Amino acid sequence: DMYMDRQNSLGRDYSQKADRDRHAAALARVDAERFLSGPLIEGGLGAGQDPRDVTNPFDRAQVIGRVSEATTEDIDHAVDMAQRAQVAWDRAGGTRRAPVLRAMADALEADIDRLVALLSREAGKTLNDGVAEVREAADFCRYYAKLAEKDFGGPQTLTGPVGETNKLVLHGRGVFAAISPWNFPLAIFTGQIAAALAAGNAVLAKPAEQTPLIAAEAVRLYHKAGLNPDLLALVPGRGETVGAALVSHPGIDGVAFTGGTDTAGAINRAIAARSGPIIPFIAETGGLNGMFVDTTALREQVIDDVIGSAFGSAGQRCSALRILYAPRDSADSLIEGLKGALAAQVLGDPADPSTDIGPVIDTESRQALEVHIGRLMKDAKILARATMPAGAERGDLFAPTIAEIPSPDYLEREVFGPILHIYRYDPADLKSVAGRLAARGYGLTLGVHSRIEAFAEEVVSLVPAGNVYINRGITGAVVGVQPFGGEGLSGTGPKAGGPNSLIRYASEKAISNNI
Ligand code: NAD
Ligand code: ALA
Repeated sequence: DMYMDRQNSLGRDYSQKADRDRHAAALARVDAERFLSGPLIEGGLGAGQDPRDVTNPFDRAQVIGRVSEATTEDIDHAVDMAQRAQVAWDRAGGTRRAPVLRAMADALEADIDRLVALLSREAGKTLNDGVAEVREAADFCRYYAKLAEKDFGGPQTLTGPVGETNKLVLHGRGVFAAISPWNFPLAIFTGQIAAALAAGNAVLAKPAEQTPLIAAEAVRLYHKAGLNPDLLALVPGRGETVGAALVSHPGIDGVAFTGGTDTAGAINRAIAARSGPIIPFIAETGGLNGMFVDTTALREQVIDDVIGSAFGSAGQRCSALRILYAPRDSADSLIEGLKGALAAQVLGDPADPSTDIGPVIDTESRQALEVHIGRLMKDAKILARATMPAGAERGDLFAPTIAEIPSPDYLEREVFGPILHIYRYDPADLKSVAGRLAARGYGLTLGVHSRIEAFAEEVVSLVPAGNVYINRGITGAVVGVQPFGGEGLSGTGPKAGGPNSLIRYASEKAISNNI
């Protein structure tokens, strides 16, 4: 196995006092620091424009740091530096690029306590989610380092007629724009960059508006790990300004995007309107993810997996469970179990080791979820809502909710947060019920809980999905183990963390030499 010498990153265990103490010390240091983000070009932080404070989603009175937006001059300058540096980086080949990515993985792991503390303060991540992010970021770096060596380590020799040599060589395309979401502000941010770099590109990275501080830390770590700073610039700012300027910039040779489906559509149209070369667009977007349970499923396992998949990370994973399809005959028993399990979840400060569910990312998101709850109260049935802890009004905690929906057509779009919808189905109607979900056009994750293989096979054949999980939770894809990404409204591929991840970041040259 060509990946045998690559191991996935290890983390922290907060049931151990030593790890809790490390966290408490790191949190105190992070709270005493004022993080700065802004245009980070040639390794230096520029002034940018429109500076503003970044606050803690659990406690809006706590200022974590400050960010300014990149100007169009900043973007022009960063593109210019990136174009110059990219030529030598591409020429160096995958074998010489890989050690830089491995050094980045080591740097992330060495800083894990600080990064986890910052992830909880800026992005509302629980400690276990924070650890998973740091590990995933490191995994992306090591995995793409391996792919760089394998696919970009030298020409591939092809067979041809006698007297002629034929070779295939992969190259970087030039300068990539990497545009990322707030929900994996370290793992996806770092992973997009690692993929583009591994393939021989330079990168301008635009983090989400909500999470520019952790992004600046990641860029500083890349530079500290030995990456020529000209190859990676941070250009923070709003999507409609900095994001839009990037995707239309004539010096950009490709766009890697993760975020909402509608945003991907807007970017796709902006790319189509460009003049000059046609550039690739890699998009990973939202999902409307279902899990189908039959009466043979193991009840306790289903309850565990549903709670984790729907409410873990406060439901703010693209992979999260949105609709549970419970068979008519065991739905009541399942619902009772889910209510009990939801009541046992601890809602609170994500920086506290005992917290299971932290806040949602911002006030706008919380209000949109409350609007959805209002609709559910009118024409569906709220089955359970978690109780809010004291002091919840300081930030954007949102009470996780379970609701029963009256029709398989009830949800049309992704609802991004801790709301689980249950649809009670008659097994005789499986085909049509699953067909209604398929008709929505998404295709990200799909779960099945059953001990009958034919049932799982049938569901899988009926509902499109890039990642299928049988008899387990549907979140937490591991790099190299579950290459991740969807189809249809959920994305273009190639999957992240899989053997084909780098191909669209590259151009291919076939060289025939009639000696
Ligand atoms: P979003 O689409 O609002 O923003 C994503 C990024 O795009 C941000 O950096 C934003 O500033 C930028 N952006 C916005 N408008 C732009 C424009 N016109 N031009 C260029 N850039 C623009 O998404 P979000 O709220 O940050 O993230 C949540 C969404 O991401 C959810 O829909 C979730 O399902 C999806 N997501 C998908 C995956 C996946 O791998 N499929 C992973 C994580 C998140
Ligand atoms: N890769 C992330 C997951 O699988 C989104 O949950």
